[in-house]
Order: sequence, then C-alpha cells, then structure tokens
Amino acid sequence: MAKVTVVGAGNVGATCANVLATREITSELVLIDIKEGFAEGKILDMFQTATLLDFDTNMVGVTGDYSKTAGSDVVVITSGMPRKPGMTREELIGVNAGIVKSVVESVLKYSPDAIILIVSNPMDTMTYLASKISGLPKNRIFGMGGALDSSRFKCYLSKALGVNTNEVEGMVIGGHGDTTMIPLVSKATYKGIPVSEFADAETLKKVAADTMVGGATLTGLLGTSAWYAPGAAAAYVVESILRDQKKVIPSCVTLEGEYGQNDICIGVPAVIGKNGVEKVIELKLTDEEKELFEKSAAAVRKTNSVLKEIKAL
Ligand code: 2OP
Repeated sequence: MAKVTVVGAGNVGATCANVLATREITSELVLIDIKEGFAEGKILDMFQTATLLDFDTNMVGVTGDYSKTAGSDVVVITSGMPRKPGMTREELIGVNAGIVKSVVESVLKYSPDAIILIVSNPMDTMTYLASKISGLPKNRIFGMGGALDSSRFKCYLSKALGVNTNEVEGMVIGGHGDTTMIPLVSKATYKGIPVSEFADAETLKKVAADTMVGGATLTGLLGTSAWYAPGAAAAYVVESILRDQKKVIPSCVTLEGEYGQNDICIGVPAVIGKNGVEKVIELKLTDEEKELFEKSAAAVRKTNSVLKEIKAL
C-alpha cells in the first residue's frame, strides 16, 4: 500500500499520474492543482479508462486542498510554467521558484515523511531551492531529469543503430539543460558492447547533439514543453522507489564531495530504492567528460545564484 501525490495537473503531472494509475505503481493517487476543477477533471477522465485498461487504482483529483495529500509516501512536484518555443528552461526561474517554494511547504505540512521528486524547471535549480528550504536529507529530495534525458539518449541511439530500444544502455549526467547535459557516449552499450563498435563517431556525435536538444525540439514542434516522456520518466523513478527496485537512474542529487562538487544539485547516477537516493555512483569519467561535468556544474551554479538575486533563498 502506498500513497503518491502528483502536484500539478498540467501535461507532465497528468501524464505521470496516468502512468502511475494505469500501471498500478501506487495503490492510492492524489493529483492536485490550483486551477479549479482541473485535477478533478483529469482524474475523472483517467478513471473512465479503468475498465478499458484494466486497472484499479484508488485516485482523486483535488483543487488546492493539501490536507487531501496527507501521509503521502512520495510526492512528485511538476507545478510551474512550461517552456514556450525558443525559451530555455533557465528563463522560467523567476515564476517557478515562488511556486515550487510554496508547494514544498504545503506538501511537508501534511506529509512530513515523504520522499519528494522535483520535476519543475529549471529542474536542477528548483531541486536546489527545494532542498535548501525543506532541509530534508539528500536521499529524500531530488530531481528528475536524467531519467528523461537518458531515455531520449537510448531511443536516439537505438534508432541510429537500428536495434531494439530495450537492448541499448546509456546515461546522461550533468544539468538538465540544452547545453549542460552530458550524454555519456563512451559508456553507452548495445548488448554490453560499446556502441562505437556499431556506429561511427559522426553518427554518435549527432545522437548526443539530438539528445541535448531533445526537449527543445519538442517545444518547437508542440508549442509547449513535452509531456509523455517527462511524465513517464517521473513515474519510472517513483516505481523504483515504491517497488524498491534499486535501479541506477541518473538523478539530480545534492552532492557532498562526489565528482569534486559541493553545495549543488546536479545529475549523477544514483541507486533509487525505498529510501529514495540510496547511493551516488561515482563513475570514472574521461578527461573530456570531467571537463564537461565541471562546465555543467558551473552553469547550474550560475542559475542557482539567481535564486539569491530574486530573494527566493
Ligand atoms: C523536457 O526536457 C520538460 O524539461 C522537460 O522536455
């Protein structure tokens, strides 16, 4: 028995809720939004698919009343403005910082023991903010970006190699930004064999470049941020927590010396189980990857510094 709350019934939150419900990842699901009737409507629509898709999740949509989220084991925060075409995730900081701050406070009032997963953009900075204001231990508050970026990476890789998506392994670390994420091409494999055995350097370079602008490409096509993959990626992380799967998922974690970094939340591979972030894996990076990671951390820090400028921290 587990209870999950998804905050924000927009495209990403609703998709996350839909995956959690239809795959019965949680027995109890709350979707909450500030827009009157919005979460209720999304949940009612999902409920009407229960006999079609054969699932039996106890779910409720709520407008603004956080008392209904009480006792949640996991809370996924997706609230905030999505990107518009041409916008970077970083440009959302001013609006989303205030939203994330008040949501975290409301969540913790009713679910003081919850594990909190931040999805709102700019995700690395929103995770840093949420971590600072909540004071929660690092295992219980972290961000989802790497699960999504790694999925995009693996999808593009499998397409380039012409193989099944499930047989490709690969991960993306660093910040969840168009220029800060680092697809680790050197560590990507097909059936355990380095992908460089199957594709030339130019092809792999294009896969990495496409991955980095994976979200921006969709924003251009859709006129707003993507939702199927972001929502499913958040549900994937929640599943690893609730089912104690201990999957290694690149996640935005508070670093305390790992990768030579402190006082930052940024994407690194982590073991995700019933306690949230159970272990940070320190990969042996190549010199080039190390340099990219340092640059990525510097860029994330620069965005974090805006939190002080706008007095969010
Ligand atoms: C994305 O990359 C919304 O940041 C999210 O699509």
